Amino acid sequence: MRILITGHCGYIGPVMTRLFHQAGHEVVGFDTGFFKDLIGAAEPGCIPDYEISGDIRDIVIKDFAGIEGVVHLAALSNDPMGNIAAGQTHSINTEGTIRCATMAKQAGASRFVFASSCSVYGASGNSAVPLDEHAPVAPVSAYAVSKVDAEKALQTIADDSFRTVMLRNATAYGVSPRMRLDLVLANLMASGYATGVIEVLSDGTPWRPLVHIEDISRAALSALTAEALNHSVFNIGAADCNYTVREIAEVAAKQFPECSINITGQNGSDPRSYRVDFTRALTDLPGFAPQWNLEKGAKQTHDWLSAAPRDLKVLFGNRYIRLSHLEKLLREHQVSETFRWL
Ligand SMILES: NC(=O)c1ccc[n+]([C@@H]2O[C@H](COP(=O)([O-])OP(=O)(O)OC[C@H]3O[C@@H](n4cnc5c(N)ncnc54)[C@H](O)[C@@H]3O)[C@@H](O)[C@H]2O)c1
Repeated sequence: MRILITGHCGYIGPVMTRLFHQAGHEVVGFDTGFFKDLIGAAEPGCIPDYEISGDIRDIVIKDFAGIEGVVHLAALSNDPMGNIAAGQTHSINTEGTIRCATMAKQAGASRFVFASSCSVYGASGNSAVPLDEHAPVAPVSAYAVSKVDAEKALQTIADDSFRTVMLRNATAYGVSPRMRLDLVLANLMASGYATGVIEVLSDGTPWRPLVHIEDISRAALSALTAEALNHSVFNIGAADCNYTVREIAEVAAKQFPECSINITGQNGSDPRSYRVDFTRALTDLPGFAPQWNLEKGAKQTHDWLSAAPRDLKVLFGNRYIRLSHLEKLLREHQVSETFRWL
């Protein structure tokens, strides 16, 4: 299959590209390249067969030439970025998704897999049972709202010849050639590695489901190739991957036994808290079988960190923290306030 991955120059994209290549597919990438240069040693398999440089808000029908399936990753992709640029988060994540799906449909692609997020469940931490796909959404950030709105819009674009699948991915972990250290597991481990203290700024109680980026990529591959899915919604994670932030810190600390854990609580209790039920993907998403767990992912992250400088400024600088890098692009007038290249 010839597959277009949007946002292929981010954290998940290179790992997904490698997995799709291993499965024998041809990959075209489409990305504006905010993080293009921030790449470590990448195997050739991580690079698409063909790359298009462009903004998702301007994507056109000819960008989908010969494309059968699309995995739409391109986004301003976390809560902090949504907080500094709520309008642009809506414009790129919601309107950009609508444009991408509309153009893909007109071009004759038959399957559209959308990278949504478990953060759509937002402030649902007190639910007595883990949330399945029928649970009401409760987004508490511009980022999560943008995903909810994009999901709704896709429902109106889907039809029998253009099938859409929503993957509500848990928070990611795992090593990528374009590594991020702003996601909870890697963030806690990087702080432990650089300072000897794993510092938790919340009170440690919020629930966060976690999933490895290779397993997200596996889910996307299953969603692209499985028959009979249409406007289906799947929570993506392994069976037992709901952790409190305190538990994540404990898993991180096992990799750095010399580190202590300090739950400062300085940011109070984080309203973003959700426990999620992943049964549907594990039973109804054909071929989807997660292969990672948090301990294995923490070991992989430990090994990556051990080869990185033990320097807080480097680890928490713009190379590995999405928000810092985008702020740098804005500060240096490399991109405009609408996140277009100048
Ligand atoms: N990483 C996670 O924990 C996680 C969890 C759930 C869902 N997701 C979703 O998965 C997707 C990929 O996540 P990621 O961690 O790889 O994100 P990332 O920020 O590392 O990469 C996003 C990519 O999108 C590109 N992009 C941004 N705006 C664009 C635009 N206007 N036009 C074209 N390209 C644009 C960026 O240049 C970047 O390469 C996102 O949609 C994200 O919301 C991620």
